[in-house]
Amino acid sequence: MDAFSTVIRVASHEQHTEAETSTFMSDLLGGRLGVDAYTRYTEQLWFVYRALEDAAESLKDDPVAGPFIQPELMRVAEIERDLAHLLGPDWRDSVVALPATLAYAARVAECAAEWPGGYVAHHYTRYLGDLSGGQIIRDKAERTWGFERKGDGVRFYVFADISNPAAFKRTYRELLDAIAADDLEKQRIIDECKRAFDFNGAVFRELGEQFSLSA
Ligand code: HEM
Repeated sequence: MDAFSTVIRVASHEQHTEAETSTFMSDLLGGRLGVDAYTRYTEQLWFVYRALEDAAESLKDDPVAGPFIQPELMRVAEIERDLAHLLGPDWRDSVVALPATLAYAARVAECAAEWPGGYVAHHYTRYLGDLSGGQIIRDKAERTWGFERKGDGVRFYVFADISNPAAFKRTYRELLDAIAADDLEKQRIIDECKRAFDFNGAVFRELGEQFSLSA
């Protein structure tokens, strides 16, 4: 097998293009949707990242998933600040997970509890994406809805403790390359990564149904 970081990137490339060009993402980043759509999307992220990060403590010493658990990646507190800005102090009373989000978060929690390799697949799919395309989304969100640059509303996309994202991603890929897994397990992790992209696609579809331009 080639370097695992390369194999997993190549294996998910097609689905990545699908995610980027999904109707909801295109409309959102094309400035065609209101801040309510952005807010609803941010709510969904809260459920997913809680599942990812609630598991951090129990997985931090795991031989497979442990090396990936890094405090500078943690997003839940940042999402909560964004939601307080977007929805007000009582935001917890109004956030609702879409069915696709519930299924996504449940699968992350299941992997976290039972299969560290699967958890890594979900970790990679979200955090490496946030460090990459997330920066494009932040820029568009700031321009479209007038958030303060790197301020409330877009803090989810701001990794204040990662001064050099390119270097961080390089190190992350080295961790992937060194993962304590044989080829069969690596293949299973790749399959789970594809599933993770599917979950994201399903969330976008449900958001797209709620915020359809033709509705
Ligand atoms: C990487 C853009 C949505 C997951 C990247 C990169 C770009 C990008 C430019 C390459 C960065 C680099 O080579 O270092 C975007 C844009 C998106 C988007 C504009 C939305 C419009 C998503 C979504 C996911 C995702 C929804 C999955 C949840 C990833 C991952 C990588 C990545 C895992 C890292 C690939 C690797 O180098 O291994 N994205 N992305 N992206 N993106 Fe996205």
